[in-house]
Amino acid sequence: MTITQRILVTGGAGYIGTHTCVELLNAGYHVTVMDNFCNSKPEALKRVERITGKVIHCMEADIRNRAAVAQALVQSKATAVIHFAGLKAVGESATAPLAYYDNNVVGTLRLLEAMDECGVNTLVFSSSATVYGNPERLPFQETHRLLPTNPYGRTKLHIECMLRDLQASRPQWRIAILRYFNPVGAHPSGLIGEDPRGVPNNLMPFLSQVAVGRRNHLNIFGRDYSTPDGTGIRDYIHVTDLAIGHLRALEHLDKTTSSHTAGQCLELNLGTGKGHSVLDLVQAFKLASGRPIPYQFKARRAGDIAEFYADPTLASQLLGWAPTMNLQQICEDSWRWQRMNPDGYRSA
Ligand code: NAD
Ligand code: WQD
Repeated sequence: MTITQRILVTGGAGYIGTHTCVELLNAGYHVTVMDNFCNSKPEALKRVERITGKVIHCMEADIRNRAAVAQALVQSKATAVIHFAGLKAVGESATAPLAYYDNNVVGTLRLLEAMDECGVNTLVFSSSATVYGNPERLPFQETHRLLPTNPYGRTKLHIECMLRDLQASRPQWRIAILRYFNPVGAHPSGLIGEDPRGVPNNLMPFLSQVAVGRRNHLNIFGRDYSTPDGTGIRDYIHVTDLAIGHLRALEHLDKTTSSHTAGQCLELNLGTGKGHSVLDLVQAFKLASGRPIPYQFKARRAGDIAEFYADPTLASQLLGWAPTMNLQQICEDSWRWQRMNPDGYRSA
């Protein structure tokens, strides 16, 4: 079967966006990216073209510019949108909440208005496990109460609410809300990966920068959690597995008729269902890189949760999707990206 679908990918130059573009292009989709490059570089898209040997159409624009989004939808003849564009740093969202509401919530509102105007009604949205907040029980199921504990998470919750209201009012819309757990790893080519600005907030990029010698040691936040080794436990999912989840969601929406949606969005966890501690990651990365990973224990990081991981059963049942990469493969791919690009895309 030849795929003729045309997809507009907002934030497609970013970490998860580039990996998803690779999978879309490899599967035969036509891809147009809209990105304002506030947290990415055009070089990332050149690398996607290098990996796939296919062309990406790129429009440098902000999703808050409704006219620009409408123009991109019309010019690209998009039939669906995968919406990654957004700000994602939890700490920054507490110091600059208005910037987060503006970019994430207002940005999504403008995007939805443009889609509605242009008659493009299929959307896959990047939500986050952070919408659940403190676990009442684990693993997190999609039915868990939604009570995020930081402004970033609340922007995702507001967007989810907007999408649920939109879906209820417009039976012809088909919307998937994907709640990612902790995306890590990189494309096995080593050509694309996570390239944070400044000091990384997240564990995997920090760990990689210690291994490559850009930072002296890792600070481990908390050793007194009620977990087997006292450090925090998360559900780390390979970014390519995550990317493939988006293709399965698109295919599922494609098959879905309005009588099936019954006015409801598809809401799915994308995680592995397995938890790993910070020390598990340090150990696996040490093995993958063959480099020492010095670390120091520090106080708990404010707002951190001891442990969380997904119940991915629903995604498996509805999409026939399951992650394939284990922690060791994840660390090997992260290390290849870091080793080949010690300064990220600036190394190019
Ligand atoms: P990223 O920062 O690497 O990618 C986001 C992209 O969106 C960047 O290229 C950025 O330049 C672009 N962008 C931001 N605001 C924009 C705007 N107003 N207009 C146009 N482009 C804009 O982040 P990522 O890790 O690839 O995350 C993608 C999405 O997934 C985000 O919505 C994020 O909140 C969500 N998410 C990420 C994680 C994670 O840990 N990486 C976890 C859960 C959910
Ligand atoms: C993982 C573990 C830390 C850094 C965040 C967002 C979440 C989602 C994914 C977007 C924790 C520990 C970390 C370090 C450490 N993003 N750690 N030293 O906090 O689970 O999730 O990213 O939606 O919303 O909150 O990920 O990688 O920051 O932390 O010890 O230098 O590593 O305490 O236990 P987190 P993380």
